[in-house]
Amino acid sequence: MKKLVELKNISKEFDGELVLDNINLDIMDKEFVTLLGPSGCGKTTTLRIIGGFVTPDEGDVIFDGERINDLPPYKRQVNTVFQKYALFPHLNVFENVAFGLRLKKLPEKEINERVMNMLKTVALSGFERKNVTLLSGGQQQRVAIARALINEPRVLLLDEPLGALDLKLRKDMQNELKNIQKQTGITFIYVTHDQEEALSMSDIVVVMADGKIQQIGTPTDIYNEPVNAFVADFIGESNIVDGVMLEDKRVRFSGHTFDCLDGGFGKNEPVDVVVRPEDVDVVSEDKGMLKGVVTAITFKGVHYEIIVDIGGFKWMIQSTDYVDIDAKIGLYIEPDAIHIMKKSEYSGQFGDYSSFSEEFDELDVVPDEDGEEDADE
Ligand SMILES: Nc1ncnc2c1ncn2[C@@H]1O[C@H](COP(=O)(O)OP(=O)(O)OP(=O)(O)O)[C@@H](O)[C@H]1O
Ligand SMILES: [Mg+2]
Repeated sequence: MKKLVELKNISKEFDGELVLDNINLDIMDKEFVTLLGPSGCGKTTTLRIIGGFVTPDEGDVIFDGERINDLPPYKRQVNTVFQKYALFPHLNVFENVAFGLRLKKLPEKEINERVMNMLKTVALSGFERKNVTLLSGGQQQRVAIARALINEPRVLLLDEPLGALDLKLRKDMQNELKNIQKQTGITFIYVTHDQEEALSMSDIVVVMADGKIQQIGTPTDIYNEPVNAFVADFIGESNIVDGVMLEDKRVRFSGHTFDCLDGGFGKNEPVDVVVRPEDVDVVSEDKGMLKGVVTAITFKGVHYEIIVDIGGFKWMIQSTDYVDIDAKIGLYIEPDAIHIMKKSEYSGQFGDYSSFSEEFDELDVVPDEDGEEDADE
């Protein structure tokens, strides 16, 4: 595969504050790449630098091997779909999609052919004459995508394009977008702060925090091999505890020495250990590698979510077995369920579920004025 977009040592300040701190990113042709991170981490700024709407203070933007820092947005082979898809309300579906082609003064026959094909791609055949203001949110979103795709950009930038949609529609559109991307072979650079969306749609996920790229990898890499406590916490649920790597494949945490699969750390090097809730087995207390007391249990449909106090640190465990509150249980962890990470600036900030169980306390049933018991939401 060939590199289509390269960001090299990109930095950007706004009002004296460093918003992007030395970003380096290669995006391959025809890939679906997602920028994922919490609000304010610099996702939109990164996208706007690629689109040409923001100029970096330092670094180079390379497109297809050429530096394009000084190329204005309209000359870049890039189109953008924004969160608020501004369709032209006075134009019907056909004319909204045809807009870019009319600007180029293409012959009527070609416009007609291309718009009809594009409407087919986004599953809106038959909607040509419809007023866009009468469409559903998902249909409007598809018109916006069709309008961007019809110009045949090499790259489509999508900034939280599904943010305004309800959950069901969001899921449908995720699938549809993924299909459109595969079908057209256009490189998608997609921004979201929804980790599930990022994992399910992307070829490559770029996890950002504090203006820096934390990790670049496939969804499974990011989930199974997070590089630090920030990524482990941001992607899925994680128990993250302090540990010491005794030697290769031997790690000590929570008062027990475990076999694991990781190596390459220094002897007795302090590390962060991550164990996913679904990878812990609940056993009787005497058979447990770790022993703890159940402080909360919630039925989640497919499994129970159990909070267990182990020496003052609260773990989350997902299990299909019910356990009673205050029960003393044992936990069993297989070597491949243990993932070791280097200490980082994020160590100690994440991975303990004590505040989580307090949230449950607050959700407890409280009597209201007329004496009836209602769940307090
Ligand atoms: N034009 C601007 N002028 C001043 N500050 C800005 C400007 N654009 C962005 N910022 C600041 O830069 C930081 C990163 O903003 P950015 O919009 O890239 O974040 P984001 O990751 O897209 O967040 P969100 O998920 O909330 O959209 C924020 O602190 C923001 O306030
Ligand atoms: Mg943003």
